[in-house]
Amino acid sequence: MIPNPYRSHHCSELRPEHIGQTATLAGWVHSVRDHHGVIFVDLRDREGVTQVVFRPEENEAAADASHRLRDEDVIQVTGKVAARLEGTENERLSTGSIEVVCSDLAVLNKADVLPFQLDKELSNEDLRMRHRYLDLRRPRMTRNIRLRHRITSAARRFLDEAGFTEVETPILSNPTPEGARDFLVPARLSPGHFFALPQAPQQYKQMLMVAGIERYYQIARCFRDEDLRADRQPEFTQIDLEASFVTALDIQTTVEGLLKGMFEAAQGVEIPTPFPRISYQEAMDRYGSDKPDTRFGLEIVDMQDVFADSGFKIFKSTLDGGGVVRAINAKGFAGITTGQMNRLNELAIEAGMKVKQLAFIKIEDGEYKSPLWKFFGEPEKEALLKKLGAEEGDIIFFYAGAWEDACNILGRVRLEIASMQKLLEGNTDLNFLWVVDFPLLAFSPEDDAWVAVHHPFTRPKAEDIPLMEAGNYAKVRAEAYDVVLNGYELGGGSIRIHEKELQQKMFGVLGIGEEEQQEKFAHLLDAFRFGAPPHGGLALGLDRIAMLAAGEESIREVIAFPKNNKAVDLMTDSPTTIDFKQLRELYIQSTFKPKSKDAAADAQA
Ligand code: AMO
Repeated sequence: MIPNPYRSHHCSELRPEHIGQTATLAGWVHSVRDHHGVIFVDLRDREGVTQVVFRPEENEAAADASHRLRDEDVIQVTGKVAARLEGTENERLSTGSIEVVCSDLAVLNKADVLPFQLDKELSNEDLRMRHRYLDLRRPRMTRNIRLRHRITSAARRFLDEAGFTEVETPILSNPTPEGARDFLVPARLSPGHFFALPQAPQQYKQMLMVAGIERYYQIARCFRDEDLRADRQPEFTQIDLEASFVTALDIQTTVEGLLKGMFEAAQGVEIPTPFPRISYQEAMDRYGSDKPDTRFGLEIVDMQDVFADSGFKIFKSTLDGGGVVRAINAKGFAGITTGQMNRLNELAIEAGMKVKQLAFIKIEDGEYKSPLWKFFGEPEKEALLKKLGAEEGDIIFFYAGAWEDACNILGRVRLEIASMQKLLEGNTDLNFLWVVDFPLLAFSPEDDAWVAVHHPFTRPKAEDIPLMEAGNYAKVRAEAYDVVLNGYELGGGSIRIHEKELQQKMFGVLGIGEEEQQEKFAHLLDAFRFGAPPHGGLALGLDRIAMLAAGEESIREVIAFPKNNKAVDLMTDSPTTIDFKQLRELYIQSTFKPKSKDAAADAQA
C-alpha cells in the first residue's frame, strides 16, 4: 500500500491495543471542549470519531493553536494513543476508551461559522438543502448515502451473477406513456423539435429484447413531472430489468432474490422468500389499497350478508343498487377524541366520501353509541357484532357506496387509525408481498376514455383476450405484478405484448389511432415485425428501497441532491431562467416576465 501522508488510521479504528503507538488522523473538528484550559477535540471522518487532547507539555504550540480551533475546521493530528482517564470513557463510541495526545497539529483548512449545527437534527429542510454539502456530513446522512451504495452494489452483484447485462439507454429520447408529464429538452439542431427525458426506459428495454440481449438491467435515472410526495421525486432511480423467454414467475423469483440480496446487504437481516401473493381484488377488498400494509389488522369487512335486508334504508338501497357496505372494527379505540374523529372524516371526504361523517358504532360502558344502532333489527345487530368480533371498547366505522369509493375511503381510514393507535410503534417487520391479477384497463371519467392501469405494453391474460375482443374492458386482467413492502409500491412490472397486432389492438382500445401509433410508436411496431421474442420485466424504485432500508420517511433523505417539494434544488438554485440569446438559439420564445433584476437584465441583453 502507498503510505498516506494524511492519515495512518481512520477515526473509527483506534482501540486499547494501539495504546503507546503513534497515529495520524485527519478530518473535521466535530466539537471542541475546553477543560480547565486543556482543549479536547472530537475529530470526525466518514468512519467515526476519535477524541484528541492538546496537552501543553506534549506540544505547547499545538496546544496554543488548539484554542483557535472551531467546528468543522479540517485538521491533521499526530500523537500517541493513550488510555482515557478512568471514568471518562465513552461507551457509545467505538473509540471511547482511548484518546490521541496531540504532538503535531496541522490546520488544513479553516471553516467559517456554520449556517446550522451538524450535531443537531434540523427541522428547517430548506436550510439543510441549501447547504446540502454540510447536511451530508452529518453521520445520519453519511450512513444513508453509504447504505444506498451497498444496496446498488448488491443489486449489481446479484444481477451480474444471474446473467443480466447492464446496458445504458438514452436520456434524450421521446415521450414515454408512463402516466406523468414529460420534462422536455429543446433540440437546437432540429428546430422546433424536443426531446423528452425518459419517464422509464420501457420501450428501449423492449427493443433490447428484440435485439436478442435476453437479460438486461440498468440502474436507470427516470424523470417524471408530477406532484411531489415524500416517496416521489421528479428525477429518481429505477433498478430496471427485462428478460426474454420467461414467465411472470421467473421475473418474480429473480426480483425476490434481488430484493433479498439488497435488504440483506443493507440491514444484515434474513428475508424469507417466496413473498406471499395477493390478487388486486383481494388487496382492495381487505385493505382498500393496491399496495397494502399488512403489518397490522384493521381489515375491511364486507357486510353485504348482514345488511341485505336491513331496516336501515341507506344500507339496503346501496346494496340493492349494486353498491357495497363495508366496515372496519378499530379494536380498543372507543376512546377516540373528537379531534381524531374530525381528522378521519376529513380524510374520508378527501378520499371521495359525499356525506360529512363516517357512520360508526362505539361500544362503551356496555352501550352502543351510534346514530345508526336504532335502525337495526335484533338479528342484524347480533350478526354484525359477531361478524366483526366487536366487543366493549371497540369502535366500528361503516361506509356504504360504490366499491371503488369504499376501498379508497376505508383504505385511507384504516391507515390513519393505525397511525392514531400507534399500531406500528417499534415494529420492525418487513412485509414484502406481490399484488397480482391487476386489471389491464381502467375507465378515466376525466379523459372519458380507457387508460392502461400499468402501461400500454402490458400483456392481457391469455384467457381474458376474448373479453377484450368483446369490449368488456373492465373485466380484462393483466399479466402484471407489483411488489409491495409495508404499504409502499417498490416496483411494478409485467409480461409484455410482443405481437404487432395485439399491440395495435391495445393502442386502439386506449384511443390511440393508426396515425398516432405510427407517429409515436413506429419503432416498436416495426421491431415487432422482425421476430420479437416473448418477454417481460419489472422496475424497482431504488430510492424507496433505500428509504425503507434506512428507516427514513422521505426519499429525500437517501438522495444526495434531491429537489424540494416545489421541485427546486435550493443548493444550485435550479431550475433557472435562461437568457434571451440561449433561447433564441433554441428557437424558443418566452412570454414569461422575469421578476428578478438579474433575469430582467439578461432578457434585455
Ligand atoms: P412504474 O411506473 O411502476 O413502472 O415505476 C416503477 C417503480 O419506480 C418507482 N417510482 C418512483 N420513485 C420515486 N419517485 C417517482 N416519481 C417514482 N415513480 C415511480 C416506484 C415504482 O414502483 N416501466 C415500468 C416498469 C416495467 O413495467 O418494467 C415502470 O416504470 O417504486
